[in-house]
Amino acid sequence: MKICIVGAGVVGLCTALEIQNQFPNLNITIIADKFNEDTTSDGAAGLFLAFDHFVGPTEHITTKWINHSYKYYDKLIKNEDCGIFRISGYSFSNISHNDCLYKCMKNDSVEYQFLNVDELSQFNIKYKFGVKISTLGIPCRKFLPWCIEKFKKNDGHVIHKKIYNFDALEKEYDAIFNCSGMNAKFLCNDNNIYPIRGQVMQVKSTWIKHFYKFDSNFIIPCGYDDKITLGGTYDFGSFNTEVNEYITSSIIDKCSQFLPDLNNVSVIRNWVGLRPYRTVVRVELEPRNSAMLIHNYGHGGCGVTAAPGTSLHAVNLFRDFHLYRKNYSKL
Ligand SMILES: Cc1cc2nc3c(=O)[nH]c(=O)nc-3n(C[C@H](O)[C@H](O)[C@H](O)COP(=O)(O)OP(=O)(O)OC[C@H]3O[C@@H](n4cnc5c(N)ncnc54)[C@H](O)[C@@H]3O)c2cc1C
Ligand SMILES: *[C@@H]1O[C@H](CO)[C@@H](O)[C@H](O)[C@H]1NC(C)=O
Ligand SMILES: *[C@@H]1O[C@H](CO)[C@@H](O)[C@H](O)[C@H]1NC(C)=O
Ligand SMILES: *[C@@H]1O[C@H](CO)[C@@H](O)[C@H](O)[C@H]1NC(C)=O
Ligand SMILES: *[C@@H]1O[C@H](CO)[C@@H](O)[C@H](O)[C@H]1NC(C)=O
Ligand SMILES: *[C@@H]1O[C@H](CO)[C@@H](O)[C@H](O)[C@H]1NC(C)=O
Ligand SMILES: *[C@@H]1O[C@H](CO)[C@@H](O)[C@H](O)[C@H]1NC(C)=O
Ligand SMILES: *[C@@H]1O[C@H](CO)[C@@H](O)[C@H](O)[C@H]1NC(C)=O
Repeated sequence: MKICIVGAGVVGLCTALEIQNQFPNLNITIIADKFNEDTTSDGAAGLFLAFDHFVGPTEHITTKWINHSYKYYDKLIKNEDCGIFRISGYSFSNISHNDCLYKCMKNDSVEYQFLNVDELSQFNIKYKFGVKISTLGIPCRKFLPWCIEKFKKNDGHVIHKKIYNFDALEKEYDAIFNCSGMNAKFLCNDNNIYPIRGQVMQVKSTWIKHFYKFDSNFIIPCGYDDKITLGGTYDFGSFNTEVNEYITSSIIDKCSQFLPDLNNVSVIRNWVGLRPYRTVVRVELEPRNSAMLIHNYGHGGCGVTAAPGTSLHAVNLFRDFHLYRKNYSKL
């Protein structure tokens, strides 16, 4: 059996490693036109947090994805090369306690504690509600190359090319995993997927150890080289990947209101990424003529958080269908 994965972002790579984990003897190939620093995954702040807009087919499945992902990353912490680290930080709101929370917290995988009035008064921007969160950071700058190395060590193949349609792949491979992120909109004519444009900047600072989320802004340590990601925007429906200078200055203004020392830091880069938002994240198996196609895309602002969980689900769909086909052909 020959298998290929289209996509080398965090979703494609987690899928590839999960297939190798379950089927060590299959011939597996990753095909992508962008790797490592050229992917959307690379620019993600990499914080393990699931937003309310991250929606799977059912609430139970969504929780299972997130639970599995947390355990998966947590186990990798000991492995320094992949860059994963523990981090705590704060999320604020003026609306309610509940508004400071994320999906992954409501069902326990991530620990949190509400802040009292005294604690809230110590921050430079005043909020009525706030929560302290202990979670994980997954820097894709380190994690993606680590995944590719691991994949290659286990005899995985990597092909660098752009796919324009799926016919040729169907002839060559028995199963194709579609992990094409935002580009699934075009590859699959999928009208349920939209970009949520995110403009961020990376700066250098040695003294910021926690993350902070307030309104649409955030300050998030990357976990290596003293890099900090400052954000950002959530522009629904925008395909514009150009950096906008007005936005850059409003990000720095707002973040330095919160932590004044940010006024005088060196900027490493300005960057725009399109979060591949889908109304419901698509993890589905689609039997085709001779091949099976397994979709795994549409993770919006939570692809890093949820990739191991949706990838386990996608590979389990493949496994069950594969076994079923085997049984069926015996009859
Ligand atoms: C500013 C910003 C901050 C973010 N912060 C976080 C965060 O803190 N936590 C979090 O969990 N998520 C975060 N995200 C979201 C996260 O980046 C995405 O959900 C995630 O990167 C999606 O991964 P992916 O593998 O689906 O897509 P991508 O990383 O875009 O990878 C897609 C892959 O498919 C390949 N591909 C597509 N089409 C073709 C084709 N036709 N032929 C060949 N190859 C193809 C590409 O080459 C690429 O390798 C953030 C996003 C942005 C923009
Ligand atoms: C595995 O697949 C790759 C890519 O299609 C191919 O180059 C290679 O020859 C295959 N290896 C085996 C052992 O079939
Ligand atoms: C998720 O994990 C938490 C804590 O480990 C557990 O209480 C909960 O039942 C899990 N939920 C699912 C759907 O697996
Ligand atoms: C948490 O788990 C409970 C019970 O399993 C479930 O009813 C609820 O929808 C879950 N909430 C979230 C946000 O996942
Ligand atoms: C939140 O509410 C407080 C009290 O009403 C107010 O002083 C503060 O400016 C508000 N904060 C933001 C960020 O809007
Ligand atoms: C992704 O899935 C769609 C079917 O929904 C298919 O038309 C498209 O070619 C697939 N893309 C790839 C690269 O496999
Ligand atoms: C800004 O940073 C530079 C270099 O780190 C330093 O020399 C300068 O004094 C700082 N300026 C202010 C106003 O803090
Ligand atoms: C296939 O058959 C085996 C035993 O013959 C059985 O245990 C298994 O459940 C079957 N799998 C499916 C998916 O039907």
